Amino acid sequence: MKLELGADEVLATTRSVRRRLDLEKEVGEGILRECLALALQAPTASLRQDWHFVVSNDREQCREVGLIYQQVWTSMVTDQYLNTSAGKQGDPGDQGSWLNMMGSARHLAETFPDVPALFVPCISGRLDGVDAMTQAVKWGSVIQAAWSFMLAARNRGLGTCWTTVHLQREQDVAEVLGIPYNEVQQVALSPVAYTVGTEFKAGRRKPDESFVHFNGW
Ligand SMILES: Cc1cc2nc3c(=O)[nH]c(=O)nc-3n(C[C@H](O)[C@H](O)[C@H](O)COP(=O)(O)O)c2cc1C
Repeated sequence: MKLELGADEVLATTRSVRRRLDLEKEVGEGILRECLALALQAPTASLRQDWHFVVSNDREQCREVGLIYQQVWTSMVTDQYLNTSAGKQGDPGDQGSWLNMMGSARHLAETFPDVPALFVPCISGRLDGVDAMTQAVKWGSVIQAAWSFMLAARNRGLGTCWTTVHLQREQDVAEVLGIPYNEVQQVALSPVAYTVGTEFKAGRRKPDESFVHFNGW
């Protein structure tokens, strides 16, 4: 199924979907491969394509990875963390949307073991202690493709959410998915599931004056 959204609509409405993931419906290999084919059209430095994409729609694998995610999230995001961090948000509007986002993040942590599919973009090689330019080349190559995967997913009625907390236990996730940890570095982990409803709105963002510098800083 394709939603046939316009490019601008896909760009404006590809949200971090956590509360509206359909945990029951299976995600077939065919649709995941369509998203991957589009992702692989992304640019890479020197056209090296030194990336890997691990995709799973195996419920048992998703469950094991999801449990690791859940354990890390629960250990990191305590009530004390939530109260302290909420206090640091600027105006009350910011605080409200931040707390709403954290509620959504908690929901994802609670339900991650039940997601029907997942996506893990990876870098070929490990970057520990590597210089900034090499880092930029490696991260800059894989992330563009990973985001393309998520945009392609949105246009097919699938929801995704870029997450990183599992990297605290990257090696454990590598073991579950058979990723050779010493040679391949994970960049992110996203659930993939059909969304409950297909309408999404543009997200709330700070005014662009705070960070857009047109014709110079
Ligand atoms: C680098 C990065 C790391 C993130 N890590 C997590 C994460 O570990 N867990 C999570 O629930 N969301 C994570 N997110 C999602 C953000 O919270 C999300 O982009 C933000 O809430 C805005 O969502 P929206 O685009 O739907 O408005 C991450 C996003 C990025 C770009």
